[in-house]
Amino acid sequence: MSRVGPGEDFEPIQIDRGTRVFVLTGAGISAESGVATFRDAGGLWYQHRVEDVATPEGFARDPRLVWRFYSERRKQVGTVRPNPAHLALAELERFLGDDLFLVTQNVDPLHELAGSKRVLHMHGELLTSRCDTCPRPPFRDERTYFEEVPVCEECGGNLRPDVIWFGEIPLGMREIAEAIDRCDLFLTVGSSGSVYPAAGFVAEARAVRDPQTGRPRTIYVGLERPDNADAFDECRLGPAGRVLPPLFRFAR
Ligand code: APR
Repeated sequence: MSRVGPGEDFEPIQIDRGTRVFVLTGAGISAESGVATFRDAGGLWYQHRVEDVATPEGFARDPRLVWRFYSERRKQVGTVRPNPAHLALAELERFLGDDLFLVTQNVDPLHELAGSKRVLHMHGELLTSRCDTCPRPPFRDERTYFEEVPVCEECGGNLRPDVIWFGEIPLGMREIAEAIDRCDLFLTVGSSGSVYPAAGFVAEARAVRDPQTGRPRTIYVGLERPDNADAFDECRLGPAGRVLPPLFRFAR
């Protein structure tokens, strides 16, 4: 596994029409937009206990605390803008169309604000709510709830953020597995590689590697080595907003 440190020139990756690219993003891609990550110094999990604000049990115990946590994040996400890393992936989608599969662990809307049209939010979305009791479909909800716990007008049950918590099943796992199986290039951007199933996707990509073509090639882009660094062919270390824009060379 070759690893290129910060400050060195990275060889761009040739992207042809028809190249199938799988991209997984994590909190690191939004860091330069001012959105807190989880496990970096001062990150969200240093300020809050996961079991209190990111588990079904925590919500059952104190739904108002959970709504204060997510309302703070909703308020903050209304003030942030996409950074060059998000814009680079939106450009990649304009070149590749459906041959790009973009899945994010992030619940912020920054990929969409940068122009990405097809984004799979495997951990749900911050600006969507759903009922914790009835099967009413999730709905867009930018409101913040600091004092009261909102209730469903259809059944009276508590509303909850439409976010996947620890112990719950991420969204889109079948589509993700199919996209990993057919990709030529697998890229992860800004994820510590410490939370499964997302941290295991790169190992799935290596398991389906074609011995003749060596595809998919697996590359990590992030500030530091992720926990699953050894599963990548290459780690390109540096801020996503600097490393991503020159990363792709489009064969026009
Ligand atoms: N550019 C690129 N990478 C960065 C940057 C940056 N500017 N800043 C930080 N990073 C990297 C850090 O080095 C770290 O490896 O981003 C990663 C962020 O890791 P985490 O905070 O663990 O976030 P993530 O991997 O997305 O967490 C996965 O865990 O708590 C759950 O549901 C939550 O989706 C989240 C999941």
